[in-house]
Amino acid sequence: MAITLACDVYGTLINTHGVIEQLQKTFSNGPDSAVDVVKFSTLWRDKQLEYSFRRGLMKSYLPFSICTRDALRYTASVFDVSLTEQQESELLACYAVLPAFDDVSDALKQLNEAGIRCFAFSNGTAAAVEGLLSNAGIRDYFDGIVSVDDLQTFKPNPDVYHYFIKQAKADIDQTWLVSSNPFDVLGALSVGFKAAWIQRTTAAKFDTWCLGDDKIEPTITVDGLPACAAYLLGNKG
Ligand code: LAC
Repeated sequence: MAITLACDVYGTLINTHGVIEQLQKTFSNGPDSAVDVVKFSTLWRDKQLEYSFRRGLMKSYLPFSICTRDALRYTASVFDVSLTEQQESELLACYAVLPAFDDVSDALKQLNEAGIRCFAFSNGTAAAVEGLLSNAGIRDYFDGIVSVDDLQTFKPNPDVYHYFIKQAKADIDQTWLVSSNPFDVLGALSVGFKAAWIQRTTAAKFDTWCLGDDKIEPTITVDGLPACAAYLLGNKG
């Protein structure tokens, strides 16, 4: 059976720090112009993910967009800024039009041409991911979108990776998760996927993690989508 890719969306195909420009606009010229927008964006993203983990564990699912909204509110309180309703909705609206990383489109094209099936696999709802990928001009590279929303839980719950296999009609031995998010890579490896960790910067570190007595690590670590495609195209069997 052919290789199937489960491509993570936020942080892997799509740059969540695309909010920085809007943060700059929001804070410039006002009383909050000293806010470090990179640190703000980083805490916002970290909290968004933490809220998804918590909601999964607490079995109190609400869509990922609510994790994003509540994480924004928390981050604003940490930075001691009060966002107007309009500023908040402008910042959240950015999430629907975040840009793809520059290296994504060409690599997906190569993978498509080689007959590798690509699915978007995300914490975001199918509608949110559909809009995001279309806006970024990369929707057509995907055979489909698989969202955790169908199961009302989040990555890295093992159920969502099994659900991916079912939805994509894939063979688990031939399925690769492609993700910049170490927790996602670990979730996929622990159910039997192969996984490519996209380490976009050397500042990104992989967690030390064990499965039983064994330390688990990504099947491959690469610095971007092109290197991932090159590896998969050279090792199709
Ligand atoms: C996603 C997360 C991990 O797209 O950001 O699933």
